[in-house]
Amino acid sequence: MLTTQNETTSKLDLAWVRQQFPALSQTVNGQPAVFLDGPGGTQVSQRVIDAISNYLKQSNANTHGAFATSERTDASLEEARRAMADFFHCHSNEVVFGPNMTTLTYAVSRAIGRALSAGDEILLTRLDHEANVGPWKTLEEKGVKIQFADIHESDCTLNIEDLASKINERTKLVAVGYASNAVGTINPVKEIVHLAHEHGALAYVDAVHYAPHGPIDVAALGCDFLVCSTYKFFGPHMGVLYGGDEYLERFRPYKLRVNADEIPHCWEWGTLNHECIAGITACVEYLEDLGRQVVPEASNRRSALLNAFSAIQQHERELLEKLVDGIKAIPGSRIYGITDPKRFDQRCPTIAVRIDGHSPRELSERLGQKGFFTWDGNYYAIGLTERLDVEKDGGFLRIGLAHYNTMEEVERFLSALREIAL
Ligand SMILES: Cc1ncc(COP(=O)(O)O)c(C=O)c1O
Repeated sequence: MLTTQNETTSKLDLAWVRQQFPALSQTVNGQPAVFLDGPGGTQVSQRVIDAISNYLKQSNANTHGAFATSERTDASLEEARRAMADFFHCHSNEVVFGPNMTTLTYAVSRAIGRALSAGDEILLTRLDHEANVGPWKTLEEKGVKIQFADIHESDCTLNIEDLASKINERTKLVAVGYASNAVGTINPVKEIVHLAHEHGALAYVDAVHYAPHGPIDVAALGCDFLVCSTYKFFGPHMGVLYGGDEYLERFRPYKLRVNADEIPHCWEWGTLNHECIAGITACVEYLEDLGRQVVPEASNRRSALLNAFSAIQQHERELLEKLVDGIKAIPGSRIYGITDPKRFDQRCPTIAVRIDGHSPRELSERLGQKGFFTWDGNYYAIGLTERLDVEKDGGFLRIGLAHYNTMEEVERFLSALREIAL
């Protein structure tokens, strides 16, 4: 049985969580470092660091050799595939490893592009990261028409009516983000997948920003592809793709003739980053352990992961309410995105803000000197910063909470921001 968000048993043991992440004990100018840069990349647990270095010490080899280290490498890759299959809720032959989300998306767009013709359409959104835009736009070279679904400017949510009106019988693919890496909006992905399928289009989901904040269930979403990056959810710098086996079989990736023909291997090129893949298993195991800390009796890894995310969501929600309240109280501040706490289940704890009289870069620099790590700019969500007309003024200051942040950090951050803004 899964716990609901209201059960007290799903509370995070924050002291345990923070002990797992050695980077969190850093200081800057004598101040404790506060990592609010998670949307650009999260910190990793000690076990991820150990798994990477142990692989290099004990198993370092290429694949499919007739000797011990190579056999250990093969086993380690398959173990990571099983871990990610539990993470996505799919079969392990539907898990493809790659260097990052962008590279994997280019690979999929090239393969799907081989089956498209002039006049076919692809629907993208103004809310998306450029990595879920550029790879599809390259298909304009083939005469494919690219459409964009607009947003509601008031709360930076997708305009679903506009999106629905742009899907037609020529639409071959809808590519959408699970959550915005700039303003935090969580999109109604299941509904969008349904709309795409109703018209016979494929659904490609960029779950990079959502992955550290909530459970992914490709079976429940019904999507055809979903991609994420492990460095955004406490793992090493890698990308992982889910592709439904039917689609991994149907589309033809460009590949070497010596490359395996069977899925998922035919979608993986050259020698993979074996040490980081060993780190991916450890990253999923960290989340599994976190889930078992909150509900010890979870029957399998998938349920433990769901329990972990239930606890993560509860904790992040408390921090988010405090953060949004505190920022709203700063004169001249404006948060872009959902600010009504009753709707916080429609957003991740990632806040985009502008404060009158201060550029996002200046705010981020001054916060950085005090040990608060935030991002400024467009973070490649350039379709959105252009649409909101903030691109020319430095984009936003982005504050990204992760489950390892504490209420005390949020309070200290708010006083630092108040001091800088006044
Ligand atoms: C929402 C989103 N999609 C895609 C990407 C690109 O990921 P990668 O760096 O793994 O290519 C990012 C990176 O910031 C992102 O935030």
